[in-house]
Amino acid sequence: MKTNKSKISTICCIGAGYVGGPTMAVLADKCPDIKVYVVDKNKERINAWNNSNLEKLPVYEPKLKDVIKRARDRNLFFSENVKKYIGLADMIFLSVNTPTKVKGIGSGQASDLKWIEACARDVAKWANGHTIIVEKSTIPVRTAETIKIILESDQVNKSKKTFAVLSNPEFLAEGSAVNDLENPDRVLIGGDDDHSIKSLSEIYNRWVHREKIIKTNLWSSELSKLIANAFLAQRVSSINSISALCEKTGADINQVSDAIGSDTRIGSKFLKAGPGFGGSCFKKDILNLVYLCNHFGLPEVANYWDNVISINNWQQKRISQIIVNKLFGTLTDKKIVILGFSFKADTNDTRESPAIYIAKDLLEEGANLIIHDPKVNQKQIELELGNDLNCSSKDKNIFEETKKQNYWKFSNNIENAIENADAVVIITNWSEYKNLNWNKLYEKMRKPAWIFDTRSLINIKEFKDIGINIWQIGT
Ligand code: UDX
Ligand code: ADP
Repeated sequence: MKTNKSKISTICCIGAGYVGGPTMAVLADKCPDIKVYVVDKNKERINAWNNSNLEKLPVYEPKLKDVIKRARDRNLFFSENVKKYIGLADMIFLSVNTPTKVKGIGSGQASDLKWIEACARDVAKWANGHTIIVEKSTIPVRTAETIKIILESDQVNKSKKTFAVLSNPEFLAEGSAVNDLENPDRVLIGGDDDHSIKSLSEIYNRWVHREKIIKTNLWSSELSKLIANAFLAQRVSSINSISALCEKTGADINQVSDAIGSDTRIGSKFLKAGPGFGGSCFKKDILNLVYLCNHFGLPEVANYWDNVISINNWQQKRISQIIVNKLFGTLTDKKIVILGFSFKADTNDTRESPAIYIAKDLLEEGANLIIHDPKVNQKQIELELGNDLNCSSKDKNIFEETKKQNYWKFSNNIENAIENADAVVIITNWSEYKNLNWNKLYEKMRKPAWIFDTRSLINIKEFKDIGINIWQIGT
């Protein structure tokens, strides 16, 4: 039987997704004496984490392959056996998905906690002795209370099982996850059990300076995660709103960003205008915050934050409308190339990607799309947009019929994709899109052709003289 010791030797993480996988990989890498088991009920995902071909890991992140190579099968293991590793663990991280509810009370705003609840029930059933539970998933404030109630509900085994619950939100950003985990700005630990807090901070202390480990009560920790994301999203919406004003007035959004960002009180990060923020966190967390404020009778605060999302939706729509207007008000049968489908560079994650919304708008207007992305595969795009008709429809009649409306195709060759295109829309800030030879590519397009650069990737001055039509955000 495990004792209430402060030295942790076995960790289990439930959820092998974008957060659980990289976080545990770095933890195992930094703590070779701790056995780290990442478990997930999704067999396909576990198999992918165990794939000997590191190109086939389920999550693409720079430097992740190296970390996995060092730690996997040494002290980092991926398994489907949730029951076994819950039973063995001194400390269990909950790193499961908490998407926005799609039905019932709070639908469209509150987080759906069914996965967290299921985990808590599994832990209550299968844990042994004393176990520290660490919330990693982004969750609404006071979720720890729900977890505690479930864990303590097993009266029969009360004497044999004890639990402490901590909140330890993850602040990594996708695309820089390994760097963020290795050199975090801070580590936040919320809780009221000093013994457990000490155990967790000793783990981080192996590679994070003591001063960067912030300790708060549970609710402050849970709320801080929501608020950090809300503030970051608010900055993006603020700069995006000003990009529209720049387009009307002749100011340049990048110059404005530089000018205001050099004020140390404002700071230069998160001031890049774009097609609207995406990703699994920003929208979900703000909706959650809005729900929370309304629940506590603060409609003014709720409305304030809701506007951050309204501006984001507006920015995405605004871009689709500009494309339609520049292409003479109609996209019917026009060929448009979309460069980038992930929600930002250096990730294969497409959750809430602005590309989904913009592509759907363009398809609705009758465009034929060719979609390119360096890391997102066709299958993933199919999940977001429906079938790639060119590749998957076996019934020619259906294909011909649907083709009359609109369709999209996947391409991994930009040059081929661009042949005879009426427009190219750069949606994701992948570095490979920065130095494309537009002189050459433009020649292949049907004229008058347009390039829509929603990320300010193209150095517009270079191409001014050769008559390329370029629309760039905020200029
Ligand atoms: C975010 C938070 O940064 C991270 O701390 C938290 O743990 C999870 O949520 P993530 O969603 O992975 O991380 O990426 P982030 O870099 O924050 O970008 C979010 C979105 O904002 C992306 O679509 C990105 O393109 C956009 N963005 C970001 C801008 O448009 N401009 C900017 O200046 C910064
Ligand atoms: P995140 O971005 O927060 O990591 P993901 O959706 O990428 O979210 O990953 C969450 C993972 O959690 C999924 O792979 C899912 O299968 C897993 N999961 C959810 N509920 C459970 C559960 N009760 N037991 C085991 N795994 C779970």
